[in-house]
Amino acid sequence: MEFKFVSSWLLLLVSFCSFFFGLHPVSAQCLNDQKSLLLALKNNLKFDSSLSTKLVGWNQNVDCCRWGGVSCDKAGHVTGLDISNESISGGIDGNSSTLFGLGSLQSLNLAYNSFNSAQLPSGFGKLTLLTYLNLSNANFQGQIPGDLSLMKRLVTLDLSSSPYYTLALENPDLKMLIQSLTGLRELHLDNVNITTHGYHWSGVISSSLPNLQVLSLKGCGLSGPLDSSLSNLKYLSVIILDENTFSSQIPESFANLQNLTVLSLQACNLSGSLPKKIFQVPTLKTIDLSSNGILKGPLPQFPENGSLQNLVLSYTEVGGTLPDSIGSLRMLSRIELRGCKFSGPLPRSLQNLTHLVYLDLSVNQFTGSLPSFQLSKNLVSINLYQNSLVGEIPSHWEGLNRLQFLNLGYNSLSGNLPESLLTLTSLEYLELPNNRLSGQISSITDVSSFQLRNLDLSGNKFQGPIPGFIFKLPGLSTLALSANKFTGSVDLDMFGKLEELYALDLSYNNLVVSVNANRSAFSSLSKLNTLNLASCKMQQLPDLQNQSRLMMLDLSDNQLSGEIPNSIWKVGNGYLRFLNLSHNMFSSLQKPYTFPFLLDVLDLHSNHLKGDIPIPPRRVYHLDYSSNNFGSSIPAEFGNVLTSTLFFSISNSKLVGVIPASIRNASSLRVLDLSKNALTGPIPLIGNLKVLESLDLSVNMLNGSIPEQLANLTSLSFLNLSYNHLSGKIPQGSLFQTFTELSFEGNKGLCGPPLKKNCE
Ligand SMILES: *[C@@H]1O[C@H](CO)[C@@H](O)[C@H](O)[C@H]1NC(C)=O
Ligand SMILES: *[C@@H]1O[C@H](CO)[C@@H](O)[C@H](O)[C@H]1NC(C)=O
Ligand SMILES: *[C@@H]1O[C@H](CO)[C@@H](O)[C@H](O)[C@H]1NC(C)=O
Ligand SMILES: *[C@@H]1O[C@H](CO)[C@@H](O)[C@H](O)[C@H]1NC(C)=O
Ligand SMILES: *[C@@H]1O[C@H](CO)[C@@H](O)[C@H](O)[C@H]1NC(C)=O
Ligand SMILES: *[C@@H]1O[C@H](CO)[C@@H](O)[C@H](O)[C@H]1NC(C)=O
Ligand SMILES: *[C@@H]1O[C@H](CO)[C@@H](O)[C@H](O)[C@H]1NC(C)=O
Ligand SMILES: *[C@@H]1O[C@H](CO)[C@@H](O)[C@H](O)[C@H]1NC(C)=O
Ligand SMILES: *[C@@H]1O[C@H](CO)[C@@H](O)[C@H](O)[C@H]1NC(C)=O
Ligand SMILES: *[C@@H]1O[C@H](CO)[C@@H](O)[C@H](O)[C@H]1NC(C)=O
Ligand SMILES: *[C@@H]1O[C@H](CO)[C@@H](O)[C@H](O)[C@H]1NC(C)=O
Ligand SMILES: *[C@@H]1O[C@H](CO)[C@@H](O)[C@H](O)[C@H]1NC(C)=O
Repeated sequence: MEFKFVSSWLLLLVSFCSFFFGLHPVSAQCLNDQKSLLLALKNNLKFDSSLSTKLVGWNQNVDCCRWGGVSCDKAGHVTGLDISNESISGGIDGNSSTLFGLGSLQSLNLAYNSFNSAQLPSGFGKLTLLTYLNLSNANFQGQIPGDLSLMKRLVTLDLSSSPYYTLALENPDLKMLIQSLTGLRELHLDNVNITTHGYHWSGVISSSLPNLQVLSLKGCGLSGPLDSSLSNLKYLSVIILDENTFSSQIPESFANLQNLTVLSLQACNLSGSLPKKIFQVPTLKTIDLSSNGILKGPLPQFPENGSLQNLVLSYTEVGGTLPDSIGSLRMLSRIELRGCKFSGPLPRSLQNLTHLVYLDLSVNQFTGSLPSFQLSKNLVSINLYQNSLVGEIPSHWEGLNRLQFLNLGYNSLSGNLPESLLTLTSLEYLELPNNRLSGQISSITDVSSFQLRNLDLSGNKFQGPIPGFIFKLPGLSTLALSANKFTGSVDLDMFGKLEELYALDLSYNNLVVSVNANRSAFSSLSKLNTLNLASCKMQQLPDLQNQSRLMMLDLSDNQLSGEIPNSIWKVGNGYLRFLNLSHNMFSSLQKPYTFPFLLDVLDLHSNHLKGDIPIPPRRVYHLDYSSNNFGSSIPAEFGNVLTSTLFFSISNSKLVGVIPASIRNASSLRVLDLSKNALTGPIPLIGNLKVLESLDLSVNMLNGSIPEQLANLTSLSFLNLSYNHLSGKIPQGSLFQTFTELSFEGNKGLCGPPLKKNCE
């Protein structure tokens, strides 16, 4: 009885409370003047009513205290207004008595709108009761008005923005703005251009804002050094100062901040060593010192039961070994040490990090074998790319059901590909290129629920046939199997079901790739961008006419012969950029042909091409026509189309005639190789090939003297003029002495150093 009584009493109390303090805590009717101010404000504002969720519902007939984003006190005054993210595109100006008439406002949020680069109006100073003001990412620009400093009750001020919307604190400056806002606990001024007139910003903050807990001044143009005055702010918990140029060390005294949870100093040109003591702060959850290219030092021993969750030091010089004690940071969820100077083995204690979600240790010199990740069931991403890891890939991956990304490429891992890894249905990226993995790949029967998008096994020693499940992976976009020992016959149509296929690379295996007479399934793939089928024993060109997105095509080192069909130049709708048909038996180009104008690499070397030398498109930067049977001469204007070309070789191609004078216009050339032909006449004047590094004209029948200009080519480091009919004195320009390799032999008429033969 008694129990029943008590519980119904409680029930009554609960419903009473929720009536008064629940969703609409205050039952008071909104005052009429407040309603008209809000309606006038709504009228003033430009906003997209199809995207607005609050403003659009403001309605004359409803109590305004119940409108979206509005809250009131008991007397019906509007005390809170949150119209953030309402697609507002303008409408607050300095004379807007409407907004600034809401004198009872304690909290105002206009963030994430776009006030169209308008000047931030003055008037906020009238809102003297405001404790929370949030104008972040509202696309205001220009000077921040001085009357903000009149809001003496402010606890939170957020004027942050993306780098494109620049607010400025120049006059008034930071000091004038904050010196009377002594109650501030949160100050966010990301990407505000702060001009400090000779004083030091951190001293002003630490002396004006004794209650500060959160300081976020990313990209404010602040200068260094980063001094220790901030550590006088005893409540300071979050320090975010990314993207300022401090060019100094990190004050170790930050370690005295008893409640420090976040220290983020990305890209601040910090120098010196890691501040060891800061890692010992028991409350520290996030430390991000990434992209400070000269920050050095070993990692300290980590405290037992530390709170650290995010350890981000990528792109610094921090290195040495990763201490075992990292395993005692049980809360760690993100470790990013990409591109640092770490070496030595990966500590086994990594196995104990059960909260780990994101691990990036790529581009270091870690050695030894991989730890097991079996206990870290929350892992989403593991990147150990480009280290010196050896041994086998651990065999147990069961239960890592959130793993999406695994990159172990560019190590020296050996052994087989564990089956349990292949069966993780969540995996989207499996990247294992350039290791020593071997064996056959197990077959899997049902892959219909697999998420795999990128599979890169290239540069290993995998053998046996390409496993059948690969042709059924529903979302496969990149498949790279090149440079392995895969065997067997593959018909391109087998890939026809991979509708998402973007890049396919089967090059350099022991495969025999054929093209089905039907040519339908493969040809209809519509997203293909890259097709590499070098060394695939192909005898027939695939039908690529419908490949409107193909940009890279490598069919080199096959058994393709006859005419190069002119349809190949239409592949990719004219957007083909890379074509390698070298090491085949093509005899000519089917006419008429038009090269795609974006083509920048064209490799036709080692074929049987005869007749006219094809004129390449003007953008081509790598052009290889060598080892063919042209039997013709270089067209007179040829040099004029090579103005963007860096590499041009047509050696060993039975050329006759002279080197055209136009070659002097190919002023981007770094490599020019016309060797092993039957070219006659003089060496033309090529003094303006200023970036030429390698010139090979050997084994021709060139005559006359060596132009003086050649000795002036400052970039030249390889010059071979041997076995021609050149004569006269070798020019003695000083630059010839700095060449790394010179060859003049086999020219009977030449004299002077470096040849032994003296000139008469
Ligand atoms: C703004 O609203 C859109 C659509 O409702 C939402 O997707 C987005 O996350 C919101 N942005 C912020 C910063 O709240
Ligand atoms: C505000 O009103 C005054 C006087 O009416 C006017 O001079 C001033 O230009 C107005 N300012 C803005 C921003 O509209
Ligand atoms: C300001 O408002 C935006 C959007 O509502 C929010 O994401 C951000 O955290 C707010 N800033 C502060 C300091 O509360
Ligand atoms: C910041 O303001 C100063 C002074 O007005 C100006 O010289 C500088 O160019 C501004 N910086 C940026 C990034 O806008
Ligand atoms: C640290 O934070 C705790 C909990 O937020 C708080 O109780 C304590 O007063 C703070 N101490 C300091 C020195 O800020
Ligand atoms: C970075 O800091 C070093 C001194 O530690 C200084 O020599 C260098 O000029 C700074 N770089 C930039 C871009 O400020
Ligand atoms: C760390 O936490 C464990 C378990 O919560 C506890 O037994 C141990 O005493 C703690 N160690 C330290 C140094 O606080
Ligand atoms: C993992 O943690 C347990 C319990 O603290 C400890 O006994 C073990 O040595 C740790 N393992 C490694 C490899 O550090
Ligand atoms: C060619 O396609 C037709 C219809 O799509 C099919 O019936 C036939 O089996 C295919 N021929 C070959 C050799 O694949
Ligand atoms: C290529 O596209 C044309 C026109 O869209 C279509 O008629 C033809 O069947 C396609 N060929 C192949 C092999 O998919
Ligand atoms: C073209 O393919 C051949 C043989 O596969 C290769 O040696 C050559 O480097 C390739 N050319 C280019 C420009 O990549
Ligand atoms: C080579 O360079 C020197 C010094 O720059 C210059 O005087 C001379 O005329 C140049 N020779 C030729 C042939 O261009």
